[in-house]
Amino acid sequence: MSDTASIYVHLDWHIGHYVKILMDEVFGEDNFRNEIIYGYRIQGISKRNFPKKHDTLFYYSLNDDYVFKPEKEIVKYEKPFIDTKKIDANLSKLTDKDILTIKDCIEKQVALPDKFKAILFDSHFAEVYVRDVWDHDATKPIISGATEYLQYATQKSEGLLSRIIKASSNENMIVADFFGGSGVTAKVAHDLVRRFIHCDVGIHSIQTVRDRLKEAGASFQILEIQDGVSLFSNPQQTMDKLATLIPSLQRGVEGIVVFWFGSIVDSKLGTMPVCVPNLLNSQEKVLDMPQMNQILNQELPDLEDVKKVIVYYIDIDDEKELKKFIHDNNNTNIEVELQDLKDLLHDVVIEDSVNVKCNAIDSGFEVEILELFSDRLMQKIETFNQKSSTKTPIVISDDGLELIELVALDCENDSGAWHSSTAIKIDKLGFMVKDGVKSKIFWDGKIYVDKQPKRLKVRNISGDETVKNL
Ligand SMILES: C[S@@+](CC[C@H](N)C(=O)[O-])C[C@H]1O[C@@H](n2cnc3c(N)ncnc32)[C@H](O)[C@@H]1O
Repeated sequence: MSDTASIYVHLDWHIGHYVKILMDEVFGEDNFRNEIIYGYRIQGISKRNFPKKHDTLFYYSLNDDYVFKPEKEIVKYEKPFIDTKKIDANLSKLTDKDILTIKDCIEKQVALPDKFKAILFDSHFAEVYVRDVWDHDATKPIISGATEYLQYATQKSEGLLSRIIKASSNENMIVADFFGGSGVTAKVAHDLVRRFIHCDVGIHSIQTVRDRLKEAGASFQILEIQDGVSLFSNPQQTMDKLATLIPSLQRGVEGIVVFWFGSIVDSKLGTMPVCVPNLLNSQEKVLDMPQMNQILNQELPDLEDVKKVIVYYIDIDDEKELKKFIHDNNNTNIEVELQDLKDLLHDVVIEDSVNVKCNAIDSGFEVEILELFSDRLMQKIETFNQKSSTKTPIVISDDGLELIELVALDCENDSGAWHSSTAIKIDKLGFMVKDGVKSKIFWDGKIYVDKQPKRLKVRNISGDETVKNL
């Protein structure tokens, strides 16, 4: 964060109180600016407690140089509001008795006698700075049917982001949202001539924001950060799954300390301890010299009767340098083999397969998707069904067409850069968006084009793309 920056963290009652304490630690209590209550009235009622109808935004700055340009709003008071500044401005026209009368009216909050109304503002309405209680309705709520509504489960309104961005930034400043979701922050930042950064762990978010920014005419670049082993959003589950993917891995072999994830027992090489980065500790995701130093100097010397160890990594600092480091610093006779964990995962996941029929018709070509099989999605669905045994399990039809999010045809190239001649996106309700034009027509598994198509692209609802030559 720069000196002029502010941070807003939007949470609800589940976790807000704990995060406030963390934020005090990180930013300092003195830099705590507001707890903003964001209230709404939509959805559900509770009979056992007061309906929980607000979120909380913690607003901090880095120091005192933060940009702050609050919005004003017109507030309606039940009793008349008298602008005291105007009394000061008109003081010379008032007698002492007049002033006492006015003060009395202010105290009792009653209307002024008519003779003062000409010189003093007296109204049920006043223009004031927005306070720290925000009404969802005042920032234009998103309701299904609103044009900005993208069916992103936790989507916030553009009105909310607009208020925050206008208050805490100037044009051309950078607005970053590290849990960007539907991309509302990036979109509004673009509209308000700010630069933006959007991050999200979910592919659905990246696809949603990409389409949203394209439609808004924003210029942007998608950077893919490769740190990528996450079979499950819960790292512990991924660790458990990894244990089942490494061939012949045994866990808890006697004589091997817990530093090693497990061991592979090979008839020629004997016991080979295996090291796997701990996904619960983000610092271990990149294999670097200090980690290798620990392996070479602390772990290898303790191993007895071991000829070889296998070290799996997700990302590596500098492979050549690391291999040289191993060569120069390994004072044992134990061979250290490096293996990319991602290769292992690619081997176990079967790519999606598409079964398709292409027919010449009078107006061009009709391409019909007969079937999609996605091992990755089926694995995820199976895990979901196992976890939520009380709910009705998700059942996928034989042709699997409901797993498709997009189909596109390329009539120009049969390899290399993809050229979209036509594309159909299927929204969550099953309606078609053909070449960007929304419709209320259900997709029937077919896509039409006037020229002979060379390639078909299918994207599943998890974002995996499969390209098939026709
Ligand atoms: C409450 S939603 C944000 C909604 C967003 N403000 C909007 O209006 O659409 C939280 C988002 O954080 C993402 N997320 C969760 N864990 C994450 C992580 N570790 N890193 C980045 N994004 C994460 C989720 O995928 C989800 O899109």
